[in-house]
Amino acid sequence: MQLPSPTLQPIPADIVNLADYERHARERLDANAWAYFAGGAGDEQTLAANQQAWQQLALLPRVLRPLAGGHTRTTLLGRELLHPILAAPMAFLRLAEDSGEIGLAYACAAMGAGLVASTQASLPLEAIAATCLQDAARGPLWFQMYLQHDRGFNRELLQRVEAAGYEAVVVTVDAPTSGVRDRERRAQFRLPPGMAAVNLQGLPPLPTVALNPQQSPLFDSLLRHAPTWEDIAWLQEQTRLPVLLKGITHPADAREAQRLQVAGLICSNHGGRTLDTMPATARLLPAVVQAVQGDMPVLVDGGIRRGTDVLKALALGASAVLVGRPLAWGLATAGAAGVAHVLRLLRDELEAAMALTGCRTLADISADLLLRD
Ligand code: FNR
Repeated sequence: MQLPSPTLQPIPADIVNLADYERHARERLDANAWAYFAGGAGDEQTLAANQQAWQQLALLPRVLRPLAGGHTRTTLLGRELLHPILAAPMAFLRLAEDSGEIGLAYACAAMGAGLVASTQASLPLEAIAATCLQDAARGPLWFQMYLQHDRGFNRELLQRVEAAGYEAVVVTVDAPTSGVRDRERRAQFRLPPGMAAVNLQGLPPLPTVALNPQQSPLFDSLLRHAPTWEDIAWLQEQTRLPVLLKGITHPADAREAQRLQVAGLICSNHGGRTLDTMPATARLLPAVVQAVQGDMPVLVDGGIRRGTDVLKALALGASAVLVGRPLAWGLATAGAAGVAHVLRLLRDELEAAMALTGCRTLADISADLLLRD
């Protein structure tokens, strides 16, 4: 496979925030790719709620606190980060721009942002890792895993992930099947020729079962192989890497994960792409944080578009945040340069928000900065 190089295209002069990137991306992407990246499940209630919920949290700043020497550094799973912003796993990034996940990895490393590569990346996981592994200032490099129906394949995939230099495995647990995504169905979404989930090549096909008319193709075929808590315990035994779970929103599930001694949780509703009418993650996060009582880091994603959103997430107890679509908008607009600029804008906004709420370090960000109605 011919690997692309990161592209650095000019950044349009009228861009000052992440919403501007969305506007530019919309102009550049075809209807097929736009429906894939922008869409959510059902009536897109959760998709909209994610962003609104951060906006609706009101900040109550402190003043006259010493701010000199402030910074956004933090530690996560024993590693120092320049700032608490990571790239969320997104599939098929070559739909946004030819350099795809390689462009994303290059920009994340340059900006010290963590990267979570998707199982369904459109480029080989080894090439993604190699793009950033040698960069001394890069953030954490994690691999997102969708557990497949074949344990042998899962084991081999894990071995590749470890050999490539990934530092943690993020198992996504909120998508035993795809969400009902009307926008994609209307656009008759399909992957263009030559694009595929290349890291899943060699996966044996799902065993075929003869279904009678009373049986459901979903429950009696695909979901016979859907992962369960037992599979998480199995996976933990197969790898020396820390295992995090992405898509934990119920406090009881957070406690179950704690019982299995996972390394961390990502409170996520999959950016509104799976189960519509789930609450925004800003509303779900506090109970998940409370359930694990500081035992492990809890990260959050969904609708983070401003530095103030990052600050609010940390005020609600998140250790770090992940950002999805805005990075795809950056990639579509200006390649790796656009991704780097998105991360830069968000980090600069976070610094401004910290200064304006009287926070010198991330440790100063606490729940009393949020107005309780
Ligand atoms: C995703 N997401 C996702 N999650 C995951 O665990 N594995 C994946 O392969 C994908 N693929 C994917 C593709 C696209 C186009 C999007 C937009 C999202 C979900 C993603 O990791 C994250 O949870 C959300 O995108 C966060 O919300 P925002 O920042 O996009 O609002």
